[in-house]
Amino acid sequence: MLQKPKGTYDIYGADAQRVLYLKKLINVLMEKYNYNYIQSPTFESSEVFHRGVGETTDIVSKETYDFKDRGERSLTLRPEGTAGIVRSFIENKLYTSSMPVKLWYYGSMFRYERPQAGRNREFSQYGVEVFGSESPMVDAEVISILVTLFRMLGLKGIKVNINSLGDSQSRMRYRDALVDYFKPYLDELCDDCKNRYSKNPLRMLDCKVDQDKEFMKSAPKISDYLTEESKKHFELVQKYLTAMDIDYVVDNNLVRGLDYYTHTVFEVEADIKGFGSQNVLGAGGRYNNLVELMEGPSTPGVGFAIGIERLLLALEAEDIDICEKNLVDIYVMNLSEDENEYMVNLVNYLRLNGYCVEMDYQGRNIKNNFKHADKISARFVIIVGPDEIKKDLITIKNNETKEEFKVKFDELLEFLDEKISED
Ligand code: HAM
Repeated sequence: MLQKPKGTYDIYGADAQRVLYLKKLINVLMEKYNYNYIQSPTFESSEVFHRGVGETTDIVSKETYDFKDRGERSLTLRPEGTAGIVRSFIENKLYTSSMPVKLWYYGSMFRYERPQAGRNREFSQYGVEVFGSESPMVDAEVISILVTLFRMLGLKGIKVNINSLGDSQSRMRYRDALVDYFKPYLDELCDDCKNRYSKNPLRMLDCKVDQDKEFMKSAPKISDYLTEESKKHFELVQKYLTAMDIDYVVDNNLVRGLDYYTHTVFEVEADIKGFGSQNVLGAGGRYNNLVELMEGPSTPGVGFAIGIERLLLALEAEDIDICEKNLVDIYVMNLSEDENEYMVNLVNYLRLNGYCVEMDYQGRNIKNNFKHADKISARFVIIVGPDEIKKDLITIKNNETKEEFKVKFDELLEFLDEKISED
């Protein structure tokens, strides 16, 4: 039997309905915040991610799907959305629009990770990216979107962790302090951290292997190395969050797994037992140097991404069902094949006029047709037979009350409009 690749999954049935509901909700939310939808390719030239996301991150150094196409081009399946959106922002000169440019996206991402619950090799992210504003109000707005979405869904155990990585100067000072501090402990570090020590010492703070070692706990804190300006930015982000009634916790060890961040970084966790690090439903931060690094005009940016599968698992764990069943307005059946043409035309006409209509494609008998109408919870049933066609009278039944009506074809829409709206 053919099987899906490891770390991928099929979405169908109730889960598919949940995904559609989430997409609808996100759409409505994004309209309210006035963000524009953007779609970029699922693969980009490898450089986009290897430069944008950064070679010192696990996501790029160990987890990307890199391949050569038949024209020998080096391509990479996107492991995240931000770098591709930045490439698009630059290539399409979106920086010539009036700032800020507020964008959102939804799509598949690919990471070669060890699969487990909430960690897949292909997964979906909904994310936003805002370009062209340094205002801490934007950092706070972006965090507020995450929180609002989770609140709208009714998720309760949500925790917002924030930190500031400061500007380049703060980071440089902090980096030096970490290098000095960890020097005597080099032998005690895990292999990954030994590597991080020379390439990107900040990432050592995030290490799952070394995190409980005593010397880790007393490592220098970024907050002591922030420049005055960076400190002020972070304080304002916190003030605006408080103004919007958003609870948060400052976590000085939060550094994130991507290289491009400056200033605010954040993660939103759900408190779900047995989830471990997969508790993080969404995360993001500010990246004021990325557009320039990718050869665009210096433009600040800030954004987040939510893992849709993790969000679905979190909803399940909290017993929140967002499955919306599609309501079938009318089920149409006929008595024999002779009425097929009439039936297809009628069904088409009703659908074009806005009704959700299902029909009998299988040539069922009447009894089975009524059973099927019940199964799909059709509100009305239309039966087409030779008599109906001859007399131009449609037989329509309320499938709940079993009340039957005879309606002229020309008056059918008016009838349905009245009946379905009063239902
Ligand atoms: P990230 O933290 O790498 O950030 O991913 C964001 C979210 O994607 C995670 O919190 C998680 O819910 C989900 N996720 C990540 N990896 C997997 C996986 N293997 N399986 C299932 N879900 C996963 C970013 O991707 C940044 N681009 C966010 C951002 C946008 N920063 C600024 N703008």
